[in-house]
Amino acid sequence: MFVSTDSDPQGTRRDFLYVATAATGAVAGGAAVWPLINQMNPSADVAALSSIEVDVSGVEPGTQITVKWLGKPVFIRRRNADEIKAARADDNASLPDGESRNANTPGDAADANRSLDESGEWLVMMGVCTHLGCVPLGDAGDFGGWFCPCHGSHYDTAGRIRKGPAPENLPVPVASFVNDTTIKLG
Ligand code: FES
Repeated sequence: MFVSTDSDPQGTRRDFLYVATAATGAVAGGAAVWPLINQMNPSADVAALSSIEVDVSGVEPGTQITVKWLGKPVFIRRRNADEIKAARADDNASLPDGESRNANTPGDAADANRSLDESGEWLVMMGVCTHLGCVPLGDAGDFGGWFCPCHGSHYDTAGRIRKGPAPENLPVPVASFVNDTTIKLG
């Protein structure tokens, strides 16, 4: 193992290269591909039976949790006031995908048609980039929402695609509140 010291500038450079490589590895890990998305899509009757309930009582405003459902990641985000405001301010922006892509609220891509509750606090989406299926990173990208590092797709705080190769907004699955602190998927 190479040990660097302050008097060994070459060693310092080597250590820097190692750190840079490790950092790259971490990014690649965060961008894990979900390669079997299409193959894993269940038939409609199986999907109808497959539902889970998620306790969201511990989710603070401005944070999200990721749960696995039907073999795929689902982002459940409790948006703070700034995120909601940013999303709604862009309702009339030029949106590459004008559809809500919301199984619960079909319609245009207005933020109100994307969020789970009327106040817009809760946003539930499949955590699968609509380009080629990577898992986007949260709190990232040019629009403060999600960023897919695989090929550079930027989603806003409503999960709408704003820039990059992804063709559609992150899809919102069938979801509902069972009570104040429990969200049911499916
Ligand atoms: S898979 Fe996300 S940008 Fe290509």
